[in-house]
Amino acid sequence: MPEAIPRYRRVMLKLSGEALMGTKPYGIDADVITDIAEEIKDAHQMGVEVAVVIGGGNIFRGIEASAKGMDRATADYIGMLATVLNALTLQDALEKKGVYTRVISAIEMKELCEPYIRRRAIRHLEKGRVVIFAGGTGNPYFTTDTAASLRAMEIHADVILKATKVDGIYDKDPVKDPSAKKYDELTYLDVLRMGLRVMDATAVSLCMDNRLPIIVFSIKEKGNILRILRGEKVGTLVKA
Ligand code: GTP
Repeated sequence: MPEAIPRYRRVMLKLSGEALMGTKPYGIDADVITDIAEEIKDAHQMGVEVAVVIGGGNIFRGIEASAKGMDRATADYIGMLATVLNALTLQDALEKKGVYTRVISAIEMKELCEPYIRRRAIRHLEKGRVVIFAGGTGNPYFTTDTAASLRAMEIHADVILKATKVDGIYDKDPVKDPSAKKYDELTYLDVLRMGLRVMDATAVSLCMDNRLPIIVFSIKEKGNILRILRGEKVGTLVKA
């Protein structure tokens, strides 16, 4: 059961679309989304205000489609739509667990979700609702990591919790190279200089300019979000 005083008051959780696939090659694994919803619920019960930016790579990858000849902007817009599917699915999973949730999209589709109004998003958080930001930044050529940095700044989040498939940042790809070494802490400049592909440079630079810490951790390991909120060292911390 969740306990103790949380380390952070307001967090931005960045979930990649791939995190929702589980072992499936495509789409959403219902068990995975239920587990993630449970972790968010635990954080919420601890009194933490949780905002989520969700990716769409489990459904459509804009960069890959553009590499195959599709217009990049069109491909990115399709990717943004994919994030809305994920956001609505996560909302459903959270509300099944009794966690009030609002989906806010950067691209207006008011029949499905709310449009992005910064002050309203903050108000939802203050009222104890989980806020899921869909539609990225609403612009092509920007990743959902950049959307997470931007929204985190706008809502004055204390930290970005970047959920990935690996348990932190390594000097090499740990999936391909077993000699890869994990970093416990890095500076923003380290990440940029070494070209560590944990978040794109725009997202990292935005965090650097505003001194917003990023914790990169594995979502595959259950309970990590709670561990971070309890102040345990999990994953890799990127800071000034
Ligand atoms: P408060 O005014 O702070 O109580 O917030 P609230 O979200 O409970 O109230 P509101 O009346 O704004 O919203 C009620 C429900 O309608 C919520 O589930 C919202 O997510 C949803 N909602 C609000 N605005 C929109 C919109 O533009 N489009 C869609 N699809 N739903 C909306």
